[in-house]
Amino acid sequence: GLVNTREMFAKAIKGGYAVPAFNFNNMEQLQAIIKAAAEDRSPVILQVSKGARNYANPILLRYMAQGAVEYAKSLGWENPQICLHLDHGDSYEICKDCIDHGFSSVMIDGSHLPYEENVALTKKVVEYAHQFDVTVEGELGVLAGVEDEVSSDHHTYTDPEEVIDFATRTGCDSLAISIGTSHGAYKFTPEQCTRNAEGKLVPPPLAFEVLDAVMEKLPGFPIVLHGSSSVPQEYVDMINHYGGKLPDAIGIPEEELRKAAKSAVCKINIDSDSRLAMTAAVRKVLSEKPAEFDPRKYLGPARDEMEKLYKHKIENVLGSKDKA
Ligand code: G3H
Ligand code: 13P
Ligand code: NA
Ligand code: ZN
Repeated sequence: GLVNTREMFAKAIKGGYAVPAFNFNNMEQLQAIIKAAAEDRSPVILQVSKGARNYANPILLRYMAQGAVEYAKSLGWENPQICLHLDHGDSYEICKDCIDHGFSSVMIDGSHLPYEENVALTKKVVEYAHQFDVTVEGELGVLAGVEDEVSSDHHTYTDPEEVIDFATRTGCDSLAISIGTSHGAYKFTPEQCTRNAEGKLVPPPLAFEVLDAVMEKLPGFPIVLHGSSSVPQEYVDMINHYGGKLPDAIGIPEEELRKAAKSAVCKINIDSDSRLAMTAAVRKVLSEKPAEFDPRKYLGPARDEMEKLYKHKIENVLGSKDKA
């Protein structure tokens, strides 16, 4: 069945790689994630957000994820390492609902709350979750941009002075931190960037000194990076070429994620890149073949493109191939 993150993270820290955490909202995304993970024998975390629950229905998503384990086996993966994780849980109640209905891991995101309230809420979720061997991700620090319904104009880096107290008092199994990543396809404004010789935007570096300080305080503790899409230029260009409009979209350079994956960062969250791959492929088919109206004819190529993307992340960025 589904597994929690405990062993996945212990192995990832030892092995110097990160486990991919991919969001899914529909069947095509799920199929692409499972095919990529199965073919590459990579552990994988399937993430469901509150928005995904509202879009696709919590019951359907849960059965799809549970069915994905059987699907993975049918692809020849004998012992699939698949975790079903609630992304950005914003209340005790939503976490409990997921724990009661088969999730193997949850995130309680109290990062926008005053510190003591974040501690109390996270601790309450941990106490419930651990009775069922469900692992819990907490968060300290605030990412720039939009965290589901919680928005913040600027990020607040994680304060390394708080992490020991937070991890000890809450008992959380992993900690999401803020070091300059953010959600979505516009991670930096053009003003925050510089330009290279060809005039392309170059993002400012992540705050690796904050990550280093956190790791020094919590040696061997699993760290999570949200907002880690790279916003591949080829997809942005394809979308814009086929009638879309994504001016100055920009993500996290893969080189920085490669470096993070080698450290105690053992979960890297990617959602936007999958959305871009899907949109680029759908736009291309609909634009080149205007007579096509069978959804399989555009969602099929979109699924193939997402699988290619997931494999690229696993093989060339996170380093999780052949680790499951
Ligand atoms: O953290 C945000 C994830 O990308 C999920 O996004 O809330 O639009 O489903 P969503
Ligand atoms: P991206 O928007 O960078 O893909 O981040 C996804 C995420 O952090 C999900 O929790
Ligand atoms: Na790692
Ligand atoms: Zn996130």
